[in-house]
Amino acid sequence: MPRKLFVTTALPYANAAFHIGHMMEYIQADTWVRAQRMKGSEVHFVCADDAHGAPIMIAADKAGLTPQQFVAGIAAGRAQYLDGFHIAFDNWHSTDGVENHRLAQSIYLALRDKDLIATRTIEQFYDPQKGMFLPDRFIKGDCPKCGASDQYGDNCEACGAVYAATDLKNPRSALSGATPVMRSSEHFFFKLSDPRCVEFLERWTQDGKLQSEVANKVREWFSRDYNGLSGLADWDISRDAPYFGIEIPGAPGKYFYVWLDAPVGYLASLENLFAKRAQDGSDGAAACAAYLADPQLEQVHFIGKDIVTFHTLFWPAMLYFSGRKVPDHIHVHGFLTVNNDKMSKSRGTGISPLRYLELGLDPEWLRYYIAAKLNARVEDIDFNPEDFIARVNSDLVGKYINIASRAAGFLAKRFDGQLSSDLGVEGRLLLDGLRAQRAAIEELYETREFGKAVRETMLLADRVNAYVDQHKPWELAKQAGADGEAGAAQRAALHDVCSVCIEAFRLLTIYLKPILPALAAQVEAFLQVPPLQFADAEQALGQHRIADYKHLMQRVDAAKLDALLTPPAPAVVLPGGEAMADEISIADFADRRRQHQAAAAHARCR
Ligand code: 2FM
Ligand code: ZN
Repeated sequence: MPRKLFVTTALPYANAAFHIGHMMEYIQADTWVRAQRMKGSEVHFVCADDAHGAPIMIAADKAGLTPQQFVAGIAAGRAQYLDGFHIAFDNWHSTDGVENHRLAQSIYLALRDKDLIATRTIEQFYDPQKGMFLPDRFIKGDCPKCGASDQYGDNCEACGAVYAATDLKNPRSALSGATPVMRSSEHFFFKLSDPRCVEFLERWTQDGKLQSEVANKVREWFSRDYNGLSGLADWDISRDAPYFGIEIPGAPGKYFYVWLDAPVGYLASLENLFAKRAQDGSDGAAACAAYLADPQLEQVHFIGKDIVTFHTLFWPAMLYFSGRKVPDHIHVHGFLTVNNDKMSKSRGTGISPLRYLELGLDPEWLRYYIAAKLNARVEDIDFNPEDFIARVNSDLVGKYINIASRAAGFLAKRFDGQLSSDLGVEGRLLLDGLRAQRAAIEELYETREFGKAVRETMLLADRVNAYVDQHKPWELAKQAGADGEAGAAQRAALHDVCSVCIEAFRLLTIYLKPILPALAAQVEAFLQVPPLQFADAEQALGQHRIADYKHLMQRVDAAKLDALLTPPAPAVVLPGGEAMADEISIADFADRRRQHQAAAAHARCR
């Protein structure tokens, strides 16, 4: 039975173009999905724009657009990145789609029926000029600790203090400049502190499905005491109008906080995919529900370390207590730094993925480089230009691509592209050795140890190159011209050695295909074979004719990479983008206090 997998990446806010950090997550998930498909797993791989929330509403307003127009503009820009880097989602949708409205409301109503929703009146800063409650990021003032001016409502960039917006001295609205006033309103809470939730989440988060460092971090949230709060706090899930979001049923003027409906967007995108595929006009929702009801189905979310609370506490609890399937795996990755510079979520880094493509840099170099650095842990990885050039030029091109280019010419010129089936004892031993690594390499993909998969494959390439250096096809080619038996023997040896190289190249291509899908397609055309699967490693090509070799991959041009990294990078943030930073959510993974604030029932509206 093939494995059935429903896979997602985090849904990006529809307030800015993609930055390199998004591409890293997509490359990680896409590589894993491709490896699964090469094993025969049935995968649905979806994503969507995370469309709601105050920052997007405010940005749209600044741009003179409706929020719907604003997010449509962002959505229209997505394909060039995804296609450009060969990220093969089966569907891209929006959390503002009808499916999400219906699903989020129905999940909420199920939680309410279970008596897991409470209401409470809270006090928050309100901008009297704009007529709206202010998210922390839209309140500025003097730091209560060090006095630095112009600090945000949740933390001080000068001294690092974390505080509540109400602690700021001389607070003012970043939207209008007005002095905010305290105003109370009724909010809805998901009762995460309910013993049923605590019991479920302690079990769900500690049963071995999470990465150990994630499970350890989550365990602290259950036990430690911060800000006078202990254990899980109820989660504020409502925001007051005006808000771009989904209306709370039975509560006029109240909307779901964006983080309530965002993960529901995973299901909405899947349902939307089923609806699109339902040719006969049949119900996509019913087909999707049936698919999700399959006990064999595994639900897998790839996310960054900044949004662990949402995916290990709120989301599984929402699903479980609304009677739905809970996630099977949450794969958490670290951040991408560039030259060890920490990235800002709003500004991205100096590397624009679009500029990368426009400069003519090969998207598969980046896929390869990122894969070579990734592992299964929650570790940051660094983009280092020298390292990038070395890995692509010396390893990818120097070790792997060269195997084909060294052998293909002789085969085409002297043997009309025909491979020999008698590969010689040494050749067969070499190829058996390469095949023997198949299971291990598949397992490294399975466990997201892509760096190790790349390293293992390059070690195999080293073996092949040693074989080439030992058998010197260029020498054999010279001697193959001689008359008589000697010449004939050299000619046969040349044929065998080059055929071994091509078979070895085919095997290495299988091992790299999840990372290099476009290159693999070119290799398939060159070898004249159908799309390669892992199982194809077992069966040699044998007597088979290959096509003429066309150059498969260039070396990195350092000047182009310099151009990519030279400031000023083109703006990747759209108008209003700077104001939309959500730095609280890239709080250091280790800083549970800030994470907890995001979870706590304190007045934070976005
Ligand atoms: O942190 C973010 O960028 C969010 N937009 C991620 C949402 S993931 C999911 F829950 F939708
Ligand atoms: Zn300060």
